[in-house]
Amino acid sequence: MACPSLPPATIPSVILIVISLELIVCWGAHTDAEALLKFKSSLEISNDALGDWGLESSPCSENKANWVGIICHKGHVWGLKLENMGLKGSIDMESLEGVPFLRIISLKNNHFEGSLPDVKRVGALKSLFLSGNQLSGNIPGDSFSNMMSLKKVHLAHNQFEGQIPWSLVELPRLLELRLEGNKFSAQIPNFQQKAFKSFNISHNDQLHGPIPQALSHMDPSSFSGIEGLCGPPLNKPCNTANMPSIASIIMVSIALTQALLAIGAGIVILSRRNQSSSCEEVPANVKSPGARALDPGVGAKSPDRASSHGSGRRVAEGAKLSFVREDLEKFDLSDLLKASAQILGSGCFGSSYKAAMTGGPVVVVKRFKQMNNVDKDEFQEHMKRIGRLKHPNLLPLVAYFYKKEEKLLITNFVEKGSLVIQLHGQKAEGQPALDWSARLKIIKGIAKGLRYLYSELPSLITPHGHLKSSNVLLNANYEPLLSDYGLIPVINQEHAQDLMVAYRSPEYNQQGRITKKTDVWSFGLLILEILTGKLVANFLHQGKGGDEEDLASWVKSITATEWNSQVFDKNMGPTKSSEGEMMKLLRIALACCESDFEKRLDLREVVEKIEELKEKDGDEDFYSSYASESDIRSSRGLSDELNFTM
Ligand SMILES: *[C@@H]1O[C@H](CO)[C@@H](O)[C@H](O)[C@H]1NC(C)=O
Repeated sequence: MACPSLPPATIPSVILIVISLELIVCWGAHTDAEALLKFKSSLEISNDALGDWGLESSPCSENKANWVGIICHKGHVWGLKLENMGLKGSIDMESLEGVPFLRIISLKNNHFEGSLPDVKRVGALKSLFLSGNQLSGNIPGDSFSNMMSLKKVHLAHNQFEGQIPWSLVELPRLLELRLEGNKFSAQIPNFQQKAFKSFNISHNDQLHGPIPQALSHMDPSSFSGIEGLCGPPLNKPCNTANMPSIASIIMVSIALTQALLAIGAGIVILSRRNQSSSCEEVPANVKSPGARALDPGVGAKSPDRASSHGSGRRVAEGAKLSFVREDLEKFDLSDLLKASAQILGSGCFGSSYKAAMTGGPVVVVKRFKQMNNVDKDEFQEHMKRIGRLKHPNLLPLVAYFYKKEEKLLITNFVEKGSLVIQLHGQKAEGQPALDWSARLKIIKGIAKGLRYLYSELPSLITPHGHLKSSNVLLNANYEPLLSDYGLIPVINQEHAQDLMVAYRSPEYNQQGRITKKTDVWSFGLLILEILTGKLVANFLHQGKGGDEEDLASWVKSITATEWNSQVFDKNMGPTKSSEGEMMKLLRIALACCESDFEKRLDLREVVEKIEELKEKDGDEDFYSSYASESDIRSSRGLSDELNFTM
């Protein structure tokens, strides 16, 4: 019998169902059937294509399908394959949520219209095939968030427009992405997945800018029919003339908002902004004819470069970058505005761009919109304070740009990208994952960075505040650099509470407060993520009250004797000689995750315990035998060994 175990909430209905033995045997299938029939009811079916769908039979008997268009696996509905059936109407994902084993949805080559359905409701989906319909409009950036199993996404030959959603970039298992024949615009987001088996965005003729490095080995026909793209594998080198400038991306949008506000047309855009959830990126290519005409740099068919620079300059008049450090190379705002820009990522918090100045430094410009918690003077004071921090494990703030409606924070570009990509990103064949010694080195570096922040920013209750794997960057030697620290005082409180890691802590959930030990909790989760290779985000995104179900509880639910086989990330490679030290570190992490902060270790204790850890069990002198503090492995070619970039 292959029925799933019943959730507690259904117990009363079980009592009723017991009356009918037949029904209890097929409890799972019965709900599948009901959910599918509900799904069917929102379709417009021109012929009798789904005629055998009905409650008389269940959709599946073991691996055999009784209904047309259903794929079965052990009595459960595993796939829905309704292709070339002339279907219209709406794609009711809410009903499909009720089909617990559904992993494949194919509705290829039908007549569906309207926007992309809310596919992430079926979070465990592996394959989504919607090519060959008339779906249209912008796809919200977070549409695929947390769909950690998703391998195949086919949306080709529809009418989608706007930016390619950023959440696709974050899918660790994505192998096939087919977006050809739509109307996507702006730049290709910075895909990191190197193991793509199939990738096609051809004939989206409004895309422009450089092809991300990770895609440089794809077949050139994946990019055919797009004038504005440059860089390998195309035969068209990127020079600054075919890359959009920072000005066209960033400043125009400021100028645009101001111009539109001035002439009153801004209402369209602003009301759109307000409608979108706090976490949704406003697409660069705002969907209003007036806006498009005024937005020459982004998404327009042939960017009018002169005028985009012009508006950037207008805004820049009288404005300047404020440098917060003496020891780093300086540049003018005008250099920055002229720099060619490449989008690195855009999330809830703001977008970031890589900007390469001619003959100058390569920097990252991060754009924050919700940073008005304090007035201008106080903001500048705080930025200076952050600028004074100097430590090998902190990514230094170089400069900032202040405008009432948004702030730009400028840092140097870091070679290997973020830890989240190194841990969870798809690797090309033969490329090793971070091994135990590299991971221990990263954790020790983070600990040092945190200790420094605690000693230098004593007035902040939670000196980091936003510690997570995407805010740990790795330099060429795989030494970690913390980023986005010390921002709690300046971020709008409401926004901070929605988005910052500190506000997901047990003390905030239970008592509405953050404490000096809140960063310890975030650090604990981060260590667990590094040791298990599992994404913390999956658990945290469940939000308020969901923290009992976090990674720590999962680890605790497994007895310590099973940790070696079940908890540690297999990708760390051989770790036999280090198991004792790994177990110690796991215990430290669990102690950091203690939900009662009174009982939790404080930062100093945690750092001390971590510093005592050795790479190998019983290897007392492993670290002291090296002269320098920076791990010798890095100079011994760890970077060759781990030669995968972001
Ligand atoms: C991409 O799609 C285009 C248009 O359908 C096709 O001509 C091209 O061969 C495809 N390339 C790859 C690599 O799939």
